[in-house]
Amino acid sequence: MMNSKILQRRQFLKSTAVTGLGLTILPSGVLSGANAPSNKLNVAMIGTWGRADAHFDAISSENIVALCDVDENHVAHAAKRFPRAKHYVDWRKCLEQKDLNAVICCTTDHTHAFVGNWTLNRDLHIYLEKPIGNCVEEARKVRLNWEKKKNKLAVQVGTQRHAKPNFERVRELVKDGAIGELTDCYAWGNRQIRRKGYPPAQGQPPKNLHYDLWIGPSPYHPYNPEYFAGGPGMNCLSWNMYWDYGTGQVGDMGSHTIDLVWNAIDAGLPTTAEGEGEKFNPEVTPVELHIAFDIPANDWRGPVRVHWYQGGMMPRSPKEYIDLNKIGHGAMFKGTKGFVVCDFDSRILLPFGDDADLTYYKRRTKDEVIPPLGHFQKEWVNACKGDLKTSCDFTYGGTAIEMMLLGMVAYRTGEKLEYDGAAGRVTNSAKADDLLRREYRPGWTLNG
Ligand SMILES: NC(=O)c1ccc[n+]([C@@H]2O[C@H](COP(=O)([O-])OP(=O)(O)OC[C@H]3O[C@@H](n4cnc5c(N)ncnc54)[C@H](O)[C@@H]3O)[C@@H](O)[C@H]2O)c1
Repeated sequence: MMNSKILQRRQFLKSTAVTGLGLTILPSGVLSGANAPSNKLNVAMIGTWGRADAHFDAISSENIVALCDVDENHVAHAAKRFPRAKHYVDWRKCLEQKDLNAVICCTTDHTHAFVGNWTLNRDLHIYLEKPIGNCVEEARKVRLNWEKKKNKLAVQVGTQRHAKPNFERVRELVKDGAIGELTDCYAWGNRQIRRKGYPPAQGQPPKNLHYDLWIGPSPYHPYNPEYFAGGPGMNCLSWNMYWDYGTGQVGDMGSHTIDLVWNAIDAGLPTTAEGEGEKFNPEVTPVELHIAFDIPANDWRGPVRVHWYQGGMMPRSPKEYIDLNKIGHGAMFKGTKGFVVCDFDSRILLPFGDDADLTYYKRRTKDEVIPPLGHFQKEWVNACKGDLKTSCDFTYGGTAIEMMLLGMVAYRTGEKLEYDGAAGRVTNSAKADDLLRREYRPGWTLNG
């Protein structure tokens, strides 16, 4: 019953000393000295306001040696907390700083794969906020770059909800057969932020904001204060619906919610993708969307269909008395003997049919349940110094978002796509294959 994931975590928890960066690091609380200055990571924060604030406490045990933000006021904000760090507005310059070990990246989605690749290419650990790419090719490049270096670099995709115990309770129910043979998985989100197109030019960027660097590799659109109108940690909702800057709810809540499914099914890349939704708008990502995938069998389950719904499109409820619309961001698993319906914190088991008496299913004992992951950001810090193992590394999180971004391509072409995941190619549509990647402004290199 004990799977490799449990074993990995238990081994990590039980280890008395792990080595990394040429240092011996002792688990905190066991012996003094583990937090000695020489044992600390030298970290660059790229993006220092908004989502970055959520990392301040977790990372304050380390040396923050560089702060980089296209908005100088936002650098100043983080400098109050980390006064000894050097300051940058261009992340390419920041990554030239010689004493770095690790990077936390909380910038706009359209720069994630760039920062990710450049960081990995300089042999630095990285915590990269979700989503790790804005198109299939970006997500793949980041993943493949890391997979070449996984024996020396620790990475984490910023899907911190993954640490909620319910993720593992859902996994246990599905994997242990509480709903029989798994056949279908559904995840959904109800956020609806409608925009018509890129906002028109309005005013000049304030002096503190390096707008051209904010645009970065994406096609230029004129400044409008709307892109910056959101509060801290919510400003992504001011730009992530525009194709050149984000992927809408697919990359936003989709990253978190598909994680409920991904964690439960040990999936690899899909072999097909289909999509439907509102009429395609070349400027704005869809609000209403349903994408679906065929995922091959693995060693404990048969092939499954995985679905993502958003913006009001929803899977059918298994029973009228369960109103799935009341679950803003949720997931559902269908098996031959029933359903599991869940959100991030709770779950319902719904056995159905005359033989769904649960006698076929053996609950885990207290000793067998998957142990808690602990603090998600700290897991990465410990991994950088230790065994390099994280729960949402770029293989795990990278394949999940690659699938979702492939679904966006299927939605755009309206075709059922055949996907060769090993090669990263759509094999039955040249048009769709072209849409796996996007164009960049001159001077910006994805894999520099
Ligand atoms: N894991 C989560 O729960 C969670 C929650 C919110 C946001 N996020 C993610 O965090 C990221 C940032 O979201 P946000 O709401 O804080 O957005 P934001 O627009 O506030 O940007 C965050 C910071 O990054 C800076 N920035 C933008 N582009 C930059 C660049 N090229 N170089 C350096 N700095 C740059 C901004 O000036 C800002 O200070 C997004 O990718 C979003 O998906 C994750």
